[in-house]
Amino acid sequence: MADHPLDPALIRRAAAMLATSERVAVLTGAGVSAESGVPTFRASDGLWEGHRIEDVATPQGYAKNPLLVWQFYNARRANVATVTPNPAHFALAVLEAHFGDRFTVITQNVDGLHQQAGAKNVLEVHGSLRRTRCPNCGDVADRGLETLSDKPECLKCGRAVRPDIVWFGETLPPDIWQKAQEAAEECDTLIVVGTSAVVYPAAGLIGVVKRRSQWGAKLAGDVIEVNLEPTDASAHADVGLYAPAGVVLPLVVEKFKELVADAK
Ligand code: OAD
Ligand code: ZN
Repeated sequence: MADHPLDPALIRRAAAMLATSERVAVLTGAGVSAESGVPTFRASDGLWEGHRIEDVATPQGYAKNPLLVWQFYNARRANVATVTPNPAHFALAVLEAHFGDRFTVITQNVDGLHQQAGAKNVLEVHGSLRRTRCPNCGDVADRGLETLSDKPECLKCGRAVRPDIVWFGETLPPDIWQKAQEAAEECDTLIVVGTSAVVYPAAGLIGVVKRRSQWGAKLAGDVIEVNLEPTDASAHADVGLYAPAGVVLPLVVEKFKELVADAK
């Protein structure tokens, strides 16, 4: 039973890591939003809601068929407009309230649900479904979740805009990525939630936490993995909690609060 995901001893170990941490970072992926009703990406058929990834999530796909790409992202925008944060998002927001600016959420998600749950320090390394970007004048606009046409126009120059999403083959926004690396370099504990950890460079942040002692920075930090099943990140995990994030994270945070109260 020792390895059972909801073994109280494992929950306690994770909570104790957090309670003794000065700084905490969290790396989240699609799994943290799964219980809200946002579909994850890597279905067994290799398709993304019926589409080939090359067609809907690459600059080449967009160049070839912008209409299809916008239909795809508009469907995702419509889905996100109907969902709400789940207990996993809220538990992380409670932790942030405790740590303040010593707590950073690095998310690969583009759904905005962390912020909706009250999180403030969120680094969206793959962009946001809410924003459009103009390849002509560079304007980035927050369009919320309003219905957009399948050929939306720039509010500044009137030319066609694209989703402000990082597609395969594109670089991450440099300022945000810089902050994400700093958070990974400086944290005492990294919680990795609901990501298959196969998409780089985001997944590389997990190794940063473990390897950094070698380059003379802070000693290696602890990694807590929360996922339905082990992933490519599991070899780095000091504690693995393999059950739904919306169940696990509230338990960890509850235990964390107890430990912090006892220490006072
Ligand atoms: P994936 O779909 O690759 O992985 C989702 C992970 O969440 C899997 O490991 C699942 O086991 C896990 N999972 C599912 N439900 C869960 C739950 N209730 N609780 C905990 N874990 C759960 O999604 P990502 O790793 O986020 O990029 O994918 C990374 C990137 O690839 C995305 O950001 C996206 C995609 O292409 C862009 O859009 C640029
Ligand atoms: Zn423009």
